[in-house]
Amino acid sequence: MRSKRLEQLPPYLFVEIDRLKESFLRSGRSVLDLGIGDPDLGAPPELVEALARTISDTTHHRYPPGRGLIRLIDAVRSWALRRHGAAIGREEVLVTIGSKEAIAHLPLAIVNPGESVLIPDPGYPVYYSSAVFAGASCVTMPLDETNGFKPRFDELASRDLSAARLMFLNYPNNPTSAVADRAFWREAIEFCRSRRIALASDAAYGEIWYEEPTVPLFPLAREAGIPYIEFFSFSKTFSVTGWRIGFAVGSSEVIAALSQLKNNIDSGVFGAIQEAVAETMERHYDAIMPRIRAVYRVRRDVLAAHLAHSGLSFAVPEATFYFWIRTPRGASSMEFCRFLLEECGIVATPGVGFGANGEGYFRLSITANTETVREAGRRIEALRARIAAW
Ligand SMILES: Cc1ncc(COP(=O)(O)O)c(C=O)c1O
Repeated sequence: MRSKRLEQLPPYLFVEIDRLKESFLRSGRSVLDLGIGDPDLGAPPELVEALARTISDTTHHRYPPGRGLIRLIDAVRSWALRRHGAAIGREEVLVTIGSKEAIAHLPLAIVNPGESVLIPDPGYPVYYSSAVFAGASCVTMPLDETNGFKPRFDELASRDLSAARLMFLNYPNNPTSAVADRAFWREAIEFCRSRRIALASDAAYGEIWYEEPTVPLFPLAREAGIPYIEFFSFSKTFSVTGWRIGFAVGSSEVIAALSQLKNNIDSGVFGAIQEAVAETMERHYDAIMPRIRAVYRVRRDVLAAHLAHSGLSFAVPEATFYFWIRTPRGASSMEFCRFLLEECGIVATPGVGFGANGEGYFRLSITANTETVREAGRRIEALRARIAAW
């Protein structure tokens, strides 16, 4: 028994890789799993110690406040001011259960059935399903390498966007690892403002950068006065995907709509987790983040050095923990991922799983320990002759 809504979702394209991985493991062989973007580092000790304390406060054993703990909302406001020079009000912040649920719920809060949602292709699959669940249709925005994996707003302008109500963008980007600069955000803001489209930025990877801090949307969107929301997540920032905590910053009317919807669906994040995260943000953020980035930077450089000798085409990521790599001439993403698993025991993610425009690419995630990343790099480098002869 399944609703028409669920029937509209595409088949789960990673199922074949999962199946191959399982049969590989059953036959007693080991895999180097660079498939999922699920950090292996574990929460920073400062955060675990804070939670060990906050968990005994029984006020947290009751329902938490609707929009989130004031202490965490204020910690977010201090971060926004310190790091991005934006003095945001409490009504511009919402604590979320990671970012996935908030992204998935957004169209239900601000899009009507029959309207449309602009989504990137390749892109995080939840943008599409969230639109479907709200009875909306999707307009896809191709992200091409030749345009730095950004939508082409001039081409988009020639399409029928009369029903468009919301645009999702995601930078730093999963799966391509592309980053946005201020000029790009200004273009997106202007495009949305002139068409009365709300702008949603998924910044789940906003704190995972290497040389240059990433540029968020919110200070610019706020200044421009457009309806917008930007999603942040502690999942990747603090390596706590299992804790389920994130936050959104947005214009007060979008935050109020999403908050109202969520009040009818969930009861927020466990207060002890909120308080522990608030304390960590207030006291340890600037010490923790360089440590985490340093670990990923080493892995990134190790993998990039091997891939550079493999004959595969890729850009060294400036942010996120993903490498987005072209398959050898003519190989489909599924075919090449199957080859990597069968030949080298490496689990990679086929690009087509992120949308039709992801075909011809595969993704590797450096969320496995450095030795695993190094060994995967060595094995791919050793395929050089076969890649050249493909
Ligand atoms: C682009 C993007 N957005 C959002 C999420 C959701 O993460 P979480 O719900 O753990 O914050 C993910 C998870 O992989 C992601 O890749």
